[in-house]
Order: sequence, then structure tokens, then C-alpha cells
Amino acid sequence: MFKSKEMWLVLALVAAAAVGGFLWLKGNEMPQLGRNVVTGQIAVGGPYALTDQDGKPRASTDFGGKYQLIYFGYTFCPDVCPTTLALMAATVDKMGTDKDRIVPVFITIDPERDTPDAIKKYVAAFGPQFVGLTGTPDQIAKVEKEFRVYAKKGPVENGSYAMDHSSVMYLMGPDGKLVSFYDEATTPEDLAQQLKSKL
Ligand code: NI
Repeated sequence: MFKSKEMWLVLALVAAAAVGGFLWLKGNEMPQLGRNVVTGQIAVGGPYALTDQDGKPRASTDFGGKYQLIYFGYTFCPDVCPTTLALMAATVDKMGTDKDRIVPVFITIDPERDTPDAIKKYVAAFGPQFVGLTGTPDQIAKVEKEFRVYAKKGPVENGSYAMDHSSVMYLMGPDGKLVSFYDEATTPEDLAQQLKSKL
């Protein structure tokens, strides 16, 4: 059907572009897809150095060999963040003997308002096991980029604003590498089972 070598070359290039485009799309959209997809090739997450709710420096390697269940949000969030943090707390509670092997971590996407003090009050409402992290706008921007987090300031109203943001829980291994990630549309029982199978 195709006689010329040129035609095969064109077909090969089209195929390569299609595969490349698919991988690019997969890489960019992955955090929105959610739900327990293990990524072999795409690097998500990375080492970070932020400040915890007590104002102390906290790096991704400062978790004593434990897993981290990380969620990015902000303390002024009216709905999704509190729902997800409550889910994380309930999930960890249901992990039985694995409970102490995983630390729920909240990282703010709103460093302007989320000072260590604000975060301390916020995460305390969900349980003493939570670590809450903030940083300079530059530090937060870097972490967001590494975790492919989408976060954008919404319209200002009465001098206040909201953040539009992606909602994904990332399970990071003791080595600081991504193990899996999950969206919030699940139950504590279901998520606890999924997490236990990964520890
Ligand atoms: Ni939120």
C-alpha cells in the first residue's frame, strides 16, 4: 500500500508524536486522575525542606523511616480540604498495627495566610498525628511543581480570596519516593486497605 520510504518515515513520525503526546498528557494530567495508580516512569514528588507547625525546619527525610500521606490544601478551604483531612485521620485510625508507620502530612498552597501558627491550630483539629507544613512562596511553588499540584488564587471578594486546587493524597515511601496516590472519593476503610497493601 505504501510504496515510498518517505511515507513510512512520515508514518513513523506521526506514531512517535502520538506516543509522545500521550505520555506528556499522562504526565500532566496524572494528579487529577487520582485513585491508586502506580507510576513507574513519571517522577512525581521530590525532596523538600519546609517549616512545620511549630516553626521548626522539616525536610522530607525527617520522618524517621515512616511513610507519608501528603495532602496539599489551605486552611481557609471551605469544603474539600477539611473533608479530605478528616478522611486521612479516620483512615490512619483504621490501619491497626500499621498506624504508626504512616504520618499524615498537610502542605499549604497558601503560604501568604498559612503561617505555622495558623497551620498548628488547623491540623490540631484533625488529630495530633498530623504534620502541617508551610514555607516561603518560593519554597511552596517548588514543592507544588514537584508534586504536579495545581493551585491558583481565585477572585478576591471582600478583601478575601479562595484557592482553586487539585485534590490528591500522595503516599510517599520512607525513601521519599512516590508509592501511589489517591483521590478523596473513597471511604476510610477502603483507603486503609489500599494503604496497608502498599506498606
Ligand atoms: Ni481545599
